[in-house]
Amino acid sequence: MTTPFYVTTPIYYVNDRPHVGHAYSTVAADVLARYQRLRGRPVRFLTGNDEHGQKIEKKATELGEDPQAFVDRMSPPFREAFEQLDCAFDDSIRTTEPRHKERVAALWERMKAAGDVFLGAYEGWYSVADEAFITDKEYEELDDVTRKSVQRVKEPSYFFRLSAFTDRLLAFYEANPSFVQPEGRFNEVKSFVKQGLRDLSISRTSFTWGIPIPGDPEHVAYVWLDALTNYISALGGPKREGEDAPLYDTFWREDATKIHIVGKDILRFHAIYWPAFLMSAGLPLPTQIWAHGWLTINGQKMSKRYGNFIPPGPLVDAFGPDVVRYYLMREVAFGQDGDFSHKNLIARYNGELANGLGNLLNRMIASIVKKNLRGVIPAPGPTEEVDEALRQTAERVAREAAAHLDGVAPYRALDTIFELVGAANRYVDQTAPWALAKQGETERLGTVAYTVLEALRWLSVMIAPFMPSKSAGLRRQLGLAPLAPGEDAWPSGWGGLQAGGTTAPDKALFPRIDAKEEKTLLASFGLDAEGRPAAPEQPAPVKKAKKKSKEPLPEGTIAFDDFLKVELRVGHVLTAEAVPKSDKLLRLEVDLGEDAPRQILSGIRPHYDAASITGKRVVVVTNLAPRKIMGLASQGMVLAASDDAGLRVVEVAEGMPPGARVS
Ligand code: MSP
Repeated sequence: MTTPFYVTTPIYYVNDRPHVGHAYSTVAADVLARYQRLRGRPVRFLTGNDEHGQKIEKKATELGEDPQAFVDRMSPPFREAFEQLDCAFDDSIRTTEPRHKERVAALWERMKAAGDVFLGAYEGWYSVADEAFITDKEYEELDDVTRKSVQRVKEPSYFFRLSAFTDRLLAFYEANPSFVQPEGRFNEVKSFVKQGLRDLSISRTSFTWGIPIPGDPEHVAYVWLDALTNYISALGGPKREGEDAPLYDTFWREDATKIHIVGKDILRFHAIYWPAFLMSAGLPLPTQIWAHGWLTINGQKMSKRYGNFIPPGPLVDAFGPDVVRYYLMREVAFGQDGDFSHKNLIARYNGELANGLGNLLNRMIASIVKKNLRGVIPAPGPTEEVDEALRQTAERVAREAAAHLDGVAPYRALDTIFELVGAANRYVDQTAPWALAKQGETERLGTVAYTVLEALRWLSVMIAPFMPSKSAGLRRQLGLAPLAPGEDAWPSGWGGLQAGGTTAPDKALFPRIDAKEEKTLLASFGLDAEGRPAAPEQPAPVKKAKKKSKEPLPEGTIAFDDFLKVELRVGHVLTAEAVPKSDKLLRLEVDLGEDAPRQILSGIRPHYDAASITGKRVVVVTNLAPRKIMGLASQGMVLAASDDAGLRVVEVAEGMPPGARVS
């Protein structure tokens, strides 16, 4: 199988910082790309940022920033977060780049030339949060948070004749039964299309932050038309007459495997609009749209919109990239939702990585081989049934894991791979090499040690797409070089490990996290020992005066203990935006040195605009019971001084870290 393999992530909106949900899509794509590279296929892995549209323009305006300056500032953290997670993308595209803009125009012209674009006017609902035109019925079904960003729109607009593609799309789905995965989601798409499609508005005129339409620059391209085009613009397509675009010719040709990894929330755009645009333009269609589920926090989608945001950086700092990648791929059955929990991450780490794979490696290399075989890989002697059984397990696991990865089921692949870890550990228990050593059964010891070391070699290849650094570490201990892309390295022939090679015992690949460390780690994420958000720190109990004075407090004063009940901390205002329909309120995101910033609503808008409050270090009352103001939760109060002339927030000197106690 040497046809090219192209995998993409969604391009992420830059109105917010990257979170673990974004990391999930990108790690999944990276696992597939790394796997296919290991198989020796030509691979291209694309990620990027979606930088146009009303949502971004609105955010930039609220912050008082020029949209271009805003996206220039917001886009690098995505690339950095993915690099930190060891995602080896070949390209990261930004929709504000000229190379993209010119291809959106080219696609537009092709669709227009096909007679599928016409001028009209759109009147209806528009969800700015989802950048989607929505029907009255869909409006009724929205949750309260999303409904807040929905507006009624009436504007001149170009339309794409989507209605004409209903039958062609259905015929295409019929001919390509695995076009959308998982199957259940495909059925939803099909029933939606079967109801008949309405023409789609593909340009906007009520704002300007987008790509001007060729020949009618009053209009900018609808942000989804703009965004979807990234999958080919990054390859240099659609090509103009006589143009040379080697990447496009390789990775967007008919027989290349072209997979878009997307979240289930954006399936409709990918499974309906995108193929219809491509059909209209006469271009090849993607092979598969893989819609994964959501990472949830207590059952709710992780998103800035819901204020339950976990950034990947601190997780990588605490556990390293490979463990975070492993957990993301292991915890969530690809296609279904899965709940993210730090506690569970540690449990899986200890159970599967430290006690499972780490222990297998340790007991073999650092113990048996080092102590009894001078660290040298022995030549295997005659084999017994138990050895053959482990070999057969390895062969089955390698076959099945490959099939799962080819079928975009990374969690199933991990499940299978760890069957071999379990089998190998049981094999060591059963064959008891330490006893063989004691009894001087050198030949049998050689066979047993070789069998386990060879299984470890197979594992080092199979875990490589998921945990590239740990794979390299494991191979180093086996005396092997890291895997090099180019040829098919997936294990198939048993016995590839050279006898006589020297192992290199090193410190534990997955050192166990003990109970004390676990507590410290959880606390560093603001969690208690059970993994639940820790109750705010209680003020230190005030030493009781020896003789409790019964004297009443002077009028108008409070006891010192009562003052201590109020928790004041330094907060760093990360972002601010006006709350719609309120003249007074600003919605602030404030870093208080906790796991995630808090959302605080503050009535300071008459005195501060979003830009002038952003970046300030303020004093926040952090243990007020959360309140709902205009339907939004406020998790604290910013202190301010006021008189008739105005209001100023209480500010703290620059160097004081967020979360520092004020007393
Ligand atoms: N810009 C569009 C995509 C355009 S693609 C041509 C967009 N961007 S987004 O920033 O909102 O990110 C969307 C993607 O991030 C989701 O489809 C999903 O792949 C991923 N995730 C965002 N939140 C997520 C979770 N809570 N869980 C898992 N994935 C999540 O939509």
